[in-house]
Amino acid sequence: MTPSLDALVAFAEAYDRGVRDRTVLLGIARHLIETHSVLTAAGGETRTALHFLSELFHAQPELRQAHRHEQVAAMTFSPHVPGDGVTAADIAEAFAAPGRTRDLARYVLEFIRASDTGATLDRLAAGAAAPDLVPCLAGDAALLALLRAAPVEDWELEQGLTALRRILLRATGNDEALRLCVALAMQCHLNEFIFEETEEDRQHVAALSEQVRAALQSCREPPALAVAAIAMHRRLGEALPEIEPWLTSAGGELREIARVHVVEPREEARLAAAMPSLTPIGDGVSALVRAQYERHPFPRWTTARIGNRQPLAALIADNLPALPMPQDLPDPCSLLVAGCGTGLHAIELASHIRTSRVLAIDLSLRSLAYARRKARDFGLNEIAFAQADLMELSGFAERFDVISSIGTLHHTRNMREAWRVLRGLLRPRGLMHIGLYSRIGRDRIAETQRLIKEEGLDSSDETIRAFRRTIATRRPDLFRMLIGTAPFYSTSELRDLVFHAQESRHDLLEIGGILEQLDLEMLGLHVHPEVRARYREAFPDDPAMTSIANWHRFEVANPGTFTNMYQFWVRSRR
Ligand SMILES: C[S@@+](CC[C@H](N)C(=O)[O-])C[C@H]1O[C@@H](n2cnc3c(N)ncnc32)[C@H](O)[C@@H]1O
Repeated sequence: MTPSLDALVAFAEAYDRGVRDRTVLLGIARHLIETHSVLTAAGGETRTALHFLSELFHAQPELRQAHRHEQVAAMTFSPHVPGDGVTAADIAEAFAAPGRTRDLARYVLEFIRASDTGATLDRLAAGAAAPDLVPCLAGDAALLALLRAAPVEDWELEQGLTALRRILLRATGNDEALRLCVALAMQCHLNEFIFEETEEDRQHVAALSEQVRAALQSCREPPALAVAAIAMHRRLGEALPEIEPWLTSAGGELREIARVHVVEPREEARLAAAMPSLTPIGDGVSALVRAQYERHPFPRWTTARIGNRQPLAALIADNLPALPMPQDLPDPCSLLVAGCGTGLHAIELASHIRTSRVLAIDLSLRSLAYARRKARDFGLNEIAFAQADLMELSGFAERFDVISSIGTLHHTRNMREAWRVLRGLLRPRGLMHIGLYSRIGRDRIAETQRLIKEEGLDSSDETIRAFRRTIATRRPDLFRMLIGTAPFYSTSELRDLVFHAQESRHDLLEIGGILEQLDLEMLGLHVHPEVRARYREAFPDDPAMTSIANWHRFEVANPGTFTNMYQFWVRSRR
């Protein structure tokens, strides 16, 4: 199924005609989930389409079972009849189903905001008392599932959750308080402790840590609530290393805290120590960038969109619907992922194409170890991970059919040089999948970065937390822009967005020049279906949508088109 605006229209028309083609309808639904933020920014199509989907799920309840994410998305926005909306139990089940829960979480936020829980959190944020707080919130399956699934990308709700964490830090316990504490601890693990912490909070955490230490020293069981409360603020393996043996054997509610605070980090340390190395790491920028990602591997993702392996040509047809299908693509193909980070993109890509070999490299051993562990969790053991500086790969003997490098070249000392090195590793008629920051799209981000530089802010967790608060009063315009971005809600992502050690930005004309030099041809850019439709209207004489000059004109006229990155496929001419 090719996701496009045309498909949405086809869906609406088919629906009106009473045609019920599940494959088409569910393909669109999935696309809606995947592109939710872009679609809502782009206009009202999401709601229209979700309304149709809601009707579909109402008419065919058996579909709900197999397509939990789509159902929750559709019915959160558009219940077919009043009272037929999604329930907290539906949401909890959907989060347990496969798929990227972070996308789903954005829909669930709507549900929470409109619920009693949303009202309770608003009251807490305003400093008001909320009666029956703990039992009410601990009984909300949707909230508990959301807190475990993805960073909460909503500034107002975050204020309520921060107030709740403050109350729980001082709570004397029952099972309900413990259940909430554990869910909040999982949330704080996902967002890397980005919630604001006061001096008084720190003192409470220190006092609880003393209490736990004293219990361990005298061979008593530490109180589970105190352990969970500390885990809302600190990584236990680092802040209280002596708790490890006890915690790893603790059962019940603390088991998941033990997994993410102790068991997985230990496993990652083992994998990092065993990681093969292909090149030395260059001095200067590569060393600087490596240091950032060793300290703070990025992104810390949990769930992925795992696909069915298909020939490369089918993936290209899905990605670039306007392009006449290239006929001579290898199947299976060999794949290099350069700058794989913690592996999300590499794992998703490798799961979607038939490959004969996959090599994924990065500077950061800790990121690679995270990627390796996650690949194993998804059963993708054939991906070979290795440490390498891509700037040093020119002497590497192996060649690849496909090279993917998303969000990496602009973090090297010289983007052109880095691209040239990778180009040298491409087989004749090979494909490159590149993601690069747009100068035009990141205009406001660059302004934020300048401000950070002028103020001489470092990139420590504490500074990043304080920055989120001060930017609201210092520069409300930038704050409003930032709170609408996903990275604002997790420490390593916000660091990557505005506190990066090295970043360059580019435009399409410059990229066009590099393609000429490297003898590469543009196959197409990833764009939102609505953008595709608008481009087609503006440039009807470019049906394959590959003219870089046109796309540049389009971006100048629509500066928000590539706020995240340019992502495109190119192919070697020889
Ligand atoms: C922003 S992260 C992107 C990670 C991944 N591609 C993704 O989309 O999630 C950039 C990654 O590029 C890696 N990187 C930067 N310069 C590199 C170099 N010279 N050689 C290899 N990896 C590099 C960093 O270590 C980091 O993990």
